[in-house]
Amino acid sequence: MAAGLQAQQKPYTLRVDSLLSLMTLEEKVGQLHQISSPFAATGPISPTGNFQQQIKEGRVGSMLNVTGALRTRQLQELALQSRLKIPLLFGQDVIHGYRTTFPVPLGEAASWNLPAIEQAARIAAIEASASGIHWTFAPMVDIGRDPRWGRVMEGAGEDPWLGSLIAASRVRGFQGKGLGTQASLMACAKHFAAYGAAVGGRDYNSVDMSERQLRELYLPPFKAAVDAGVATLMNSFNDLNGVPATGNALLQRKILKGEWDFKGFVVSDWGSIREMQPHGFSASLADAARQAIVAGSDIDMESRAYTKHLADLVREGKVPVEILDEAVRRVLLKKYETGLMDDPFRYCDTLMESKQWNNRLHLDAAQALASESIVLLKNDTLQSGGQALLPLSVSGQKIAMIGPLVMAKKEHLGFWSFDWPDDSVRIQTVGDAVRKRLKSGSDFLYARGCGLNDADTSGFADAVSVAEKADVIVLYLGEERAMSGEAKSRSNLHLPGVQEALVNRLSALGKPIVLMLGAGRPLVFEQPAKHATSILYTWWLGTRAGEAIADVLFGKISPSGKLPMTFPRTEGQIPIYYNHFNTGRPAKNENDRNYVSAYIDLPNSPLYAFGYGLGYGSVIYSKPILSSLVPKENDILEVQVQLSYNGTLPHKETVQLYIRDKNASVVRPVKELKSFQQIILLPGEQKLVSFKLTREDLMFYNSELQYIWEPGAFDIMVGPASDNVQTVSVNWGK
Ligand code: NOJ
Repeated sequence: MAAGLQAQQKPYTLRVDSLLSLMTLEEKVGQLHQISSPFAATGPISPTGNFQQQIKEGRVGSMLNVTGALRTRQLQELALQSRLKIPLLFGQDVIHGYRTTFPVPLGEAASWNLPAIEQAARIAAIEASASGIHWTFAPMVDIGRDPRWGRVMEGAGEDPWLGSLIAASRVRGFQGKGLGTQASLMACAKHFAAYGAAVGGRDYNSVDMSERQLRELYLPPFKAAVDAGVATLMNSFNDLNGVPATGNALLQRKILKGEWDFKGFVVSDWGSIREMQPHGFSASLADAARQAIVAGSDIDMESRAYTKHLADLVREGKVPVEILDEAVRRVLLKKYETGLMDDPFRYCDTLMESKQWNNRLHLDAAQALASESIVLLKNDTLQSGGQALLPLSVSGQKIAMIGPLVMAKKEHLGFWSFDWPDDSVRIQTVGDAVRKRLKSGSDFLYARGCGLNDADTSGFADAVSVAEKADVIVLYLGEERAMSGEAKSRSNLHLPGVQEALVNRLSALGKPIVLMLGAGRPLVFEQPAKHATSILYTWWLGTRAGEAIADVLFGKISPSGKLPMTFPRTEGQIPIYYNHFNTGRPAKNENDRNYVSAYIDLPNSPLYAFGYGLGYGSVIYSKPILSSLVPKENDILEVQVQLSYNGTLPHKETVQLYIRDKNASVVRPVKELKSFQQIILLPGEQKLVSFKLTREDLMFYNSELQYIWEPGAFDIMVGPASDNVQTVSVNWGK
C-alpha cells in the first residue's frame, strides 16, 4: 500500500468505528453477505429472493458478476437508499483482462516478464474499473504441480519463487498506486490455501500435506501478495489436513491475520461455507456459519449462511459480537480506503467506460505479451547442417495451415474471459494473420482437418490433399478453451478427439510439420512431438493471439517463453515437478532400473522441463564464475556467466539460477530457482550476466518449522532451463 494511504488509515479506523457503532446486528451481517447477479452466475446459484429490497435494507454488502457503469450505478443507488447508505462493493473475476484479453495467466507466466505481467493487470484494472468494478478475484496464486487440475491455467505454475514474484506483480498491477487512486482495483489472492494440491488433480478434492510443505511451497505466493499490499484474500474449497480451508483457523487466524498481520478481509469461495456440511465438518448451515466466522472467513459468498444465521448466533452467544465486529471492520475499512464511502459512484461513469472500450495501446500490450508467452519447444533442421525450420519465410513458400484452431476466434480467449458481442470481428484468426503476411510467391492453403473434440475423420482427406500441395504444414491443434479452468480436471491429457490421428496421417506425407498447440495446461503429446519438426506452445493468448503467433512464426520476434510447469511424457508421471527430492536411490540415468527410484516402463525425465524454451538462435553459457568457493555466512556471493549469442534476430534470454543444499537437517530439493534475469542479446553479441546471492537465498523451514539457514555444501547452477545447467559447488559458512 502507498505510504500516504497508510497514514490515512488512522482516521479511517475512527470513521469505521463510529459507523460500526451505529449499525444494527442485521446491518453488520449485511456487510458480510455477498450475492451474485442471478444473470451471470459463476457457480451453482441459490435463489436470491428480492435482492433489490435486501440492498435497500442494508442487508447486502457486496455483489459479484454485475458489470457495466450503468448497471452498477443502478444498484449502488439502491444501496444509498439504505439507512446508513453504505455503498456496495462490486467484485468480478477479472483474471486475464477485461475488454482486452491477455494470455491465460499460466501463459503470461511463461514470459517470465514481470513488468509486462504487472502491466497486463494494470490494463485489466483500468478497463474493469471503468466498467463499475471495484474488486477483482485475482490473482490466483495457487502452486500447480498437477496438469490434470484444470485450474493450473489460472496460476503461475509450479515454482514458489517465480510464483511469488508474479503474485506480487499482479497485485501491484491491479491495485495501481494504491486503493483509492485512479483505476485501482482491489486484488484478491486466492485460494487460501493449498487448493492446487487437490488429490489426483480432481478439482475441489482434499489436500493432505505437512505444515512444512505448506509453508515452503504453497504459502509463499500468498505471503508475497500480502507483502505487496493485497487488499483481500479468498479461501478455498478444499479441506487441508481434515479441516476445510473456509473453517480453518490455522490458515486464516493464526497465519494470515496473526503471523502476517494482514489487515484486509477474507472472502469465502462460492458456497464454500455451505459446503462444509458435505465435507462432514459442519452439522448444519448455522454451524457452518459459526465455524467459518470464528476461523476468520469474513465475507460469505453465495452460501447464505451468514445472512440466515449469523445474527441469531450472536444473539444466542454462540459467536462473540467482537468476532462479528472485527470482520465488519475489515470490510468497512476497505470501503473507506477505496474511496467508495466518499464517492460511491466513482467507477460508474459511462463516458469513462466508453473511452476505455477500444484502447489501441491496451491491445498492443496484449499482443506483445502474447508473443512473449509462446514457448518454442522444438526447432529441428530439415537436413544436417541446414537451417532450422522456423522462422518461416513470408515469400516463396506454400504453407498449408491445418487444424481446428487455424480459423478459431473465441477459443483464444481461454477460460475466465469475457465474451463481447464484437469479438467475432475484432479477433483475427491465426489463419488470417498468416495469410496477410505472405508476400508474392507464397501460397496459403487451408483445411480444418477435424474438430477439437469429436470423432469425425471426414475432413482428413481434404487435409491430406491440401498438405500434399504444400512445402510446409502448420498444424494448429489443442484442447477446447473450456477444457481447462474451474471444474475442468482431465484424467487424459492427450489431444482430444481425433487430432492425434490427424497428425499421424499427415506425418506419413514426409513433409516438415510445425506443430502449434493451444491449451490452458501442459498437454501430453510425446507421440505427436516425434512427428513434428518444430513445436510452438501457444497456450491461449487472448484477443491478439493471431497477430502474436504470426509475429513468431515469421521471425518478427524470436520466441523467448520458458515453461513455468513441467511437461510430462504421460499422465502416469504426474505429479512431476523439477524441485523434487533426490530419494535415497536416485536413478543414475534414464535406463537405470536396478533397484532405483524409477518406473520400469518409462523414463523419469519429463518431455520438457521447467524453465525450458528455445529461441531462433543459440545461446552458449559459460560455466558459472563465483567470487568465492568458501563464502562466509554474511558474504554476498557473486555469480557470473558469460553468454554468447549466435542468431540473426535480437533475442531475449531468461538466464536461470538454481541452488541445491546438499545436506541439511531436512532433505532439500535437487534444485530450487533462486534468481533469473532477462537479457536482450543482439546477433553475435556476448554478455556477462551477474547474480548476487546471500544466505537469505539459502534459508528453509526446518522440522520445527523455524525458517533458518544452515552452513554447508551448496551447488550453484546456472543455465537456460532447469535440466540444462552448469554447476559449481561452494562451502558456505563453514
Ligand atoms: C469459484 C472460484 O473458485 C473462484 O475462483 C471464483 O472467484 C468464484 N467462483 C467467483 O466466480
